[in-house]
Amino acid sequence: MAILITGASSGIGAAVALRYAAPGVSLSLWGRDAARLAAVATRAREAGASVAIVAVDIADSAEAVRLAEAADDAEPFDVAILAAGRGGVRAAGQLTEDAGEVVLITAVNLAAPAAMASALAGRMAARGSGRIALIGSTAAFFPLPQAPAYSASKAGLAVFASALRLAVQSRGVSITLVSPGFVDTPMSQGLHTAKPFLISADKAAGLIVAAVQRQTRHVILPWQFALLPLISWLVPVFLRDRILLRLDARPM
Ligand SMILES: NC(=O)c1ccc[n+]([C@@H]2O[C@H](COP(=O)([O-])OP(=O)(O)OC[C@H]3O[C@@H](n4cnc5c(N)ncnc54)[C@H](OP(=O)(O)O)[C@@H]3O)[C@@H](O)[C@H]2O)c1
Repeated sequence: MAILITGASSGIGAAVALRYAAPGVSLSLWGRDAARLAAVATRAREAGASVAIVAVDIADSAEAVRLAEAADDAEPFDVAILAAGRGGVRAAGQLTEDAGEVVLITAVNLAAPAAMASALAGRMAARGSGRIALIGSTAAFFPLPQAPAYSASKAGLAVFASALRLAVQSRGVSITLVSPGFVDTPMSQGLHTAKPFLISADKAAGLIVAAVQRQTRHVILPWQFALLPLISWLVPVFLRDRILLRLDARPM
């Protein structure tokens, strides 16, 4: 089985890589930090997997697609877990986000994973099978004034995942949208805010691997966060907006 994992140098992506690592599994691990990627690769090899690492900045989505297609030509992927993501909460005292940061967040969290998923889903559909997971966020459920670009990028990714799923589901390709709440990783550790129902990266990885295996459309983890869309629906907009404005979330 050949598996592509972006964001494999840290947090959720690294934990997913180690969950999949086993004899007979070929992992293509992507990230920017070559040293941290190499450390994950060593552990995955110790578990019996064969591993290639790709150090690339996916903010260049055309380059990301080119590399994904080249890797898929060399060894067709059965599974792709697109976990790379860029956090973004505006600093205290800043009213709006820096424009360059908005461009980067939308490139890494939306343009690149959507382009890669589209390219790979088309190839998987031609082969008649494949599984793709896109890692979104429960931040997609609300317009977060502390992180407009992040919540918008994840909302866009969620709609993209649903649309792509409908387009390819009759061709043997499953698309799973994963919406995590708080997972204990460097990304959440860099955030000063309450983190209710925080789970470990390993627990998140187990839930993600199981959801991909079952070809689940949408998994919200941990389960307590699945109540958020219902709460959002029940609470009047003026009250929701007041709550959102009072949320204390800023960089550490
Ligand atoms: N942790 C949470 O509470 C939480 C909650 C909701 C959603 N998520 C989502 O879960 C996913 C994984 O996040 P995490 O918590 O595991 O964070 P993390 O530990 O900070 O890992 C982020 C990963 O994304 C990679 N990445 C970031 N920018 C990149 C770029 N421009 N090009 C290539 N790779 C890039 C990083 O690579 P390098 O380190 O090598 O640069 C790293 O491997 C993200 O999509 C995130 O939005 C996380």
